[in-house]
Formats: sequence, C-alpha cells, structure tokens
Amino acid sequence: IPVQPFDYVVFGATGDLTRRKLIPALYHRFADGQFDERSRIIGVSRSALSDADFQKFARDAVTEFVDKVDQHKDVIARFISCFSYIANDVTDKDGWADLEKALRADPEIERAFYLAVAPSLFGPICDYLDNKGYWRRDARVVVEKPLGHDLESSMEINDAISEVFAEDQVYRIDHYLGKETVQNLLALRFGNILFEPIWDAAHIDHVQITVAEDVGAGTRGYYDDSGALRDMVQNHMMQLLCLVAMEPPASDDANALRDEKLKVLRSLKPITGDNVSKCTVRGQYKGGAVNGGSVTSYQDELPEDKKGSKTETFVAIKAEVENWRWSGVPFYLRTGKRLPSRVSEIVIQFRAIPHSIFDHAEGAPKPNKLVLRLQPDEGVKLFLMIKDPGPGGMRLREVPLNLSFAETFSERTPEAYERLLMDVIRGNQTLFMRRDELEAAWRWIDPIRQAWDNASDAPQTYTAGTWGPTASVALIERDGRTWHEGDA
Ligand code: BG6
Repeated sequence: IPVQPFDYVVFGATGDLTRRKLIPALYHRFADGQFDERSRIIGVSRSALSDADFQKFARDAVTEFVDKVDQHKDVIARFISCFSYIANDVTDKDGWADLEKALRADPEIERAFYLAVAPSLFGPICDYLDNKGYWRRDARVVVEKPLGHDLESSMEINDAISEVFAEDQVYRIDHYLGKETVQNLLALRFGNILFEPIWDAAHIDHVQITVAEDVGAGTRGYYDDSGALRDMVQNHMMQLLCLVAMEPPASDDANALRDEKLKVLRSLKPITGDNVSKCTVRGQYKGGAVNGGSVTSYQDELPEDKKGSKTETFVAIKAEVENWRWSGVPFYLRTGKRLPSRVSEIVIQFRAIPHSIFDHAEGAPKPNKLVLRLQPDEGVKLFLMIKDPGPGGMRLREVPLNLSFAETFSERTPEAYERLLMDVIRGNQTLFMRRDELEAAWRWIDPIRQAWDNASDAPQTYTAGTWGPTASVALIERDGRTWHEGDA
C-alpha cells in the first residue's frame, strides 16, 4: 500500500550504511510503487556536497548494490530526484539554518530522522531538533547499534533520546527482525495449529541458534571494541531466542509482541563468574582456509596498536529460560567470524518418541527436528521418520519435508531494511526494539562480559574455516547432544 509523502532526514548521509543498505532498500520500495517523488530524502552530513553530488552518490549506490535485473533507468532517474543534501556540522549550533529552511518548506509532512551517526551525536542532534522546533509529536527517530557497550552506556543513550522523543517515536533497528525468514518464525508458530501445542519442554529437547559468517573482522575498527558477544549476541541472537521462546502474544500489536519478548529476556538464567566457564566458550580465529582460500589470523588483521587483543570472534553459550514452558530446555547459541560458511539457522530438536514399536526394525526412530534456515537458501525443513521404500522390510529413514523459498516463491526476498524503513513511515513499531527490551538484554550480557574480563585466560583459538574452538563442541556434547551440521 503506498504511503503518504514523507521526509527521511538522514544524518550521516555519506556513510556506508546509507550507501549499502538505506538507499538500495528505499530504491526497491520506490520501484514497487510504495512511495513517489513527492517524498524527500534529505542527506545531512559535514561534507560539502551539492544536491547533484548526493544524487550521484545515490545513483552509484543503486548501481552497485541493487541487482542488475531490478535496475531500471527511468525508475532510477525518478528515484534520485527525491534526494537533496544539506551540509551541516551538527555540533555547530549556528550551522542549522539550511536544514531549518528545508524542513520549514513543508511543516506538515510525515517526517523521520535517521541518525546514522555515532551515538555520542544522538543527544546533540535531538536537542537541536527540539530547540529549533522540528520536533513534532508524530516525528520519528531511527537509531541502530551500537546502542551502548553495556547497560549503563545504553541507558545514557536512551536517556538522551527520550529527553526529546517519546518511546512510541523511537525506532531502534535490529536488522535481523526485518529479515523475511525471521518474521516467518512468527508465521510458522502462530499461523499453524501444528507447532504450538508441542512447543514446550515436554516435547522439545533443546534449541540451537547458529549465526555463522565466513568473513573476518579484524579490519573493522569498531569490531575490536565490541567482540562477538556485543556485536551479535546482545542483539540479533537474543532477538531470535525471544521469538522462539516467547508466549503467543494476544495480537500483532507492537507492544503485545514486545511485552512477550521482554518476559523471555527477564527469564534468562543469569550467567556470572560462577557458571561462566560451564556455560560459555569464547574464541578467536587463527589463520586457516575459508572457501578454499587461505586467510590470516584475527591478530594479523589488527593494526599495530591493537595487537594482542583478547576480543572474541566466536561465542557459544548455553542459555536457559527459567519459566514453566522451557524448564530444563537448553538454548545453545553460537556465532562467529571465519567459520566454514555463512549460514544462520534455528534448530528445534524434539524429544524422542516415548515408546518404539520398531524395536526389531533396522534404523531406530530418530527424534524429529525442525530447521529454520534464515540465510542463505531460506527455507524450513521438518525432519521426519518414514519407511524406507522397497522390499527390505520395515526400515526407517529420516527424511526432510523441505520448503525451499527459492523453489516455492517466485518473488524476490526483500532485504531487511526495506521492510523496516517503510514500517517507520507507517508508524509500525512491531519489528523494533523497545527500550526495556534493549536494557534487559544488556542486563543479561553484562555479567558474562564482566566474568570474561575478570578471567585470567584469553579466548581459545580456532583455525579459520572450522566451527570454532573444540570447547564449543564440548559445551553441547557434555550434555549428550551435538551441533546440527547441514543436512546430516
Ligand atoms: C551486524 C554485525 O549487525 O550484522 C556484523 O555488526 C555482522 O558484524 C552482520 O556481519 C550480519 O548481518 P547479516 O544480515 O549479514 O547476517
């Protein structure tokens, strides 16, 4: 459904996020007819660019990051006509006149401020928006991680925003929530009768959430201060865990859903100095081979002043949700850089059947397993036992019911930002993190971080191109379970 014309005012407009994610996402939605040239995308940053320069920047971003088949000359021309640019040093209070003029041109229009800048600038920007009267009750502000490096700094950032904007105006992006397959988890759980009655400790043995990447991290300045725990677990993985573990919300109302996620976060068993070595593994990659090419170690990628860093590039965690539904069901999480391939999946491992009538048959029944593949090759597989066809008697075989999105749907799978950026304009906060969720996640993460910082040991090393330190295998095998690998 097309939206009313709007203004997207993007601070930090010439950065990587704008180029790689925001512009391509907006292009797709423009090409789909969801908005037209009456909307304005106003870039703001310190560089001295003209409107024409910024339009070229937008055109280049489309050419580079949108699939060739989706690039249409006339659509691109119309799309980039939405772009204008204002050079503005946001820390200079006399430098806001041009932006003010642009915004006053249409005071009634729907307006979102996208703060693609360092969090230290959120406060000053919000203050200026407020002082200059750009603040309106229906204006929205969009921010994204890093929203702090611990609970305290996250609260400071949220305080700075909430001085000016009310919670229902704040859109905190976790781009995993914008992924089609992540939303599919909601469709699967709450759009079918099949799963919910058995979605509990009585029927589920454990859950695995893997977000593996083959890329390295050492050349990204930000990463070394963050590490895998803050970069991936505190946000993306915990959001996935919440969607798997939450109670059914009463409606798809944003707060109904976020209330349920919050309850999960608050039910997580704390991991502290006492149990950290039993429940977590952290690793850092050594040189090795990924996808057939040799790659250097994390240490070798770091600049001189960072050498010797103890930052983790791999984490495995055994988490527990302490409530009635999940008592005794571990959630094993693992994520890392320089693993063998890029693959994200959620595995729901069901319990064994209570009694087998196939005692004399070859091949004992294996417990069912539901695998949600988030990326790549998005799809859902439900592993079932069937009779092996043929005359060989009653032999059981495990076979997946396989729903591959690429084979089932002809539509392009939209990128996460497409959905999220338009949800901001539509005023739908369902797929955005509420402040209390974010803080509850930090409350669980901080003690893990502290326990690691207090420990005298460094992360265990693992060879690039493997599934992390052997301790990660031990973490799950100690409990008599194994990591799901591919279609095994
Ligand atoms: C980002 C992290 O939030 O997510 C990156 O900062 C990571 O380190 C990325 O590579 C992964 O996102 P995706 O969508 O490629 O799985």
